[in-house]
Amino acid sequence: MFKDNSIKSVQDYFRDKLADYFPSREIDLFASFCFEIKFQLSKTDLIVNQQRFSESELLWFRSVIKRLKNQEPIQYILGECHFYGLNFSVEPGVLIPRPETEELVDIIIKSKIKGAILDIGTGSGVIPICLAKKMPQLKVYAIDISEKALAIARRNAKQNQVDVNFHLCDVLNERLPIDGLDVIISNPPYVLESDKIEMADNVLNFEPALALFVDDKDPLVFYQRIINLCENHLKKGGKLFFEIHEKFGNDILKLLFSFERAELIKDLQGKDRFIVAIK
Ligand SMILES: C[S@@+](CC[C@H](N)C(=O)[O-])C[C@H]1O[C@@H](n2cnc3c(N)ncnc32)[C@H](O)[C@@H]1O
Repeated sequence: MFKDNSIKSVQDYFRDKLADYFPSREIDLFASFCFEIKFQLSKTDLIVNQQRFSESELLWFRSVIKRLKNQEPIQYILGECHFYGLNFSVEPGVLIPRPETEELVDIIIKSKIKGAILDIGTGSGVIPICLAKKMPQLKVYAIDISEKALAIARRNAKQNQVDVNFHLCDVLNERLPIDGLDVIISNPPYVLESDKIEMADNVLNFEPALALFVDDKDPLVFYQRIINLCENHLKKGGKLFFEIHEKFGNDILKLLFSFERAELIKDLQGKDRFIVAIK
């Protein structure tokens, strides 16, 4: 039980109930996410704030712990996550954006893009929404095969007060709805089906397989298709940004033979994770 209804007591309760399930650092992060997202308590508030939780709020913390034990991702439980300094709604059916993708957004912003940009496989819309927010002069488009993802992405654009043109489109089988693009960006599905065996239950049981996996027999299917589409849809001198599987950097570079330049960039963990190419 909770010792009392203070922040410290809730933190201790999380540690006690989840100790057999997660490392202690992760448990503290879960508790901080709850304080931050549900109660708007900052890290400083956690030290100085004398917040007292009501009975129903304590019950809510208990329900969160039950769902965490079931391996449900904290972002789905809270219905929200932070990405590149903005808040986004996330629900089952849409991928929880990853920290590497924040690095991709940062690379794109620093490369000073302009004009019309398209994000392929937009999911919750984090990439185009961050770009539209930081560079309001851009004309921003985004596509996804999932209606559910697009509904969430549209809601996120509204919440963050930006204009993004979302379209339902299967990039592997349909023509892109926009021509004359200055920039194409994609973080497509790139996890191999055979990598499933090493993956955590919270990803496998809750996140959409459609957003994650590609057939081991054709792991570059999205990259090859998008590179082909650049022929007609990306302007000469236009830029292409990819997030990639660390195993396939050099293979994807080879697919970019007709581009003027292509560069492999490592993520903060030192793994080959991004490609920037100029047509
Ligand atoms: C790895 S997720 C990336 C989501 C988001 N861009 C992010 O970085 O968090 C890949 C996305 O591609 C979408 N997708 C999968 N197959 C697709 C297809 N054939 N055409 C368009 N989008 C597709 C999925 O629905 C998913 O939202």
